[in-house]
Amino acid sequence: MRLKIIGSAAGGGFPQWNCNYQLSRRAWNGDESVLSRTQSSLAVSSNGTDWVLFNASPDIRQQIAATPELQPQENGRLRSTPIRAVVLTNADVDHIAGLLSLREREPFVIYATRRVLDVLEANSIFNVLDRALVDRRELKIGGKTDILDVAKTPTGITVEAFPVPGKVALFLEDNSKAGEGFGTQEGDTIGLHISSSDGEQAAFYVPGCARIDAALKSRLHRADCLLFDGTLYTDDEMVAAGVGSKTGARMGHVSISGENGSLAALAELGISNRIFVHINNTNPVLDTASAAHAATVDAGWKIAFDGMEVRL
Ligand code: MLT
Ligand code: MN
Repeated sequence: MRLKIIGSAAGGGFPQWNCNYQLSRRAWNGDESVLSRTQSSLAVSSNGTDWVLFNASPDIRQQIAATPELQPQENGRLRSTPIRAVVLTNADVDHIAGLLSLREREPFVIYATRRVLDVLEANSIFNVLDRALVDRRELKIGGKTDILDVAKTPTGITVEAFPVPGKVALFLEDNSKAGEGFGTQEGDTIGLHISSSDGEQAAFYVPGCARIDAALKSRLHRADCLLFDGTLYTDDEMVAAGVGSKTGARMGHVSISGENGSLAALAELGISNRIFVHINNTNPVLDTASAAHAATVDAGWKIAFDGMEVRL
């Protein structure tokens, strides 16, 4: 199975269009220790020809341009794509807005929880994806789902969705329910166990996670590969940087560092290959010369960059 991290940054990308914080500033200036990154998305294939996207970022056109495997194939039909399906892990803008760029009457399938499908349903702009061509299929939590193309042909990829602590999309927060997770319900944020349909290779994909609880730890125990939420290094990083007032806890993202951070919480689980994805433009791990980068790498983690490939 091949996993290509086609977008490794969180919402906004890196550098972010309106950002002058030192990391973005250095990226604008072409500083080689801070690599630019597009927004969060993963492409997976078990046969090298049929690809499944996990999340569709606003940068999808650029990501396809940078990834020959996702382009119409040389001997393909006049209009065609190797992208058979898009699986969504939440309804954040950085994960669904790219669907709008997949219009132009091309058949594929969208898989998402009922909660996320309801968001697409409620926003009529997604009707640019003609229902006669683009099937929307519900992804049930628990149990395995074979990812099939529009004609119900297997793509060779199977997923199992599980709930993770998280938050409803920012643009759907209900402020009258601030004490109850702003109206967050099960299905708003999921993690995925992604495997080749023969079950031989598998990886976990959890690009958004608010807390690492006992259930998640036991699920991830001795995993071969984990792509995990690396939004922030420290909980108050955006506040300290002067770019915002929200903590990671408020945004639904566990931090990398700290007592309850992912480095500590996921240290003793025997996970072979650990990679941070969905990295925010304030995260010091983006700077390869930083102490945070060194500490993360020393703890056995990799920091994703666009185009990073994992072969299992
Ligand atoms: C998040 O991951 O918290 C969201 O993508 C934030 C956003 O909508 O920009
Ligand atoms: Mn996001």
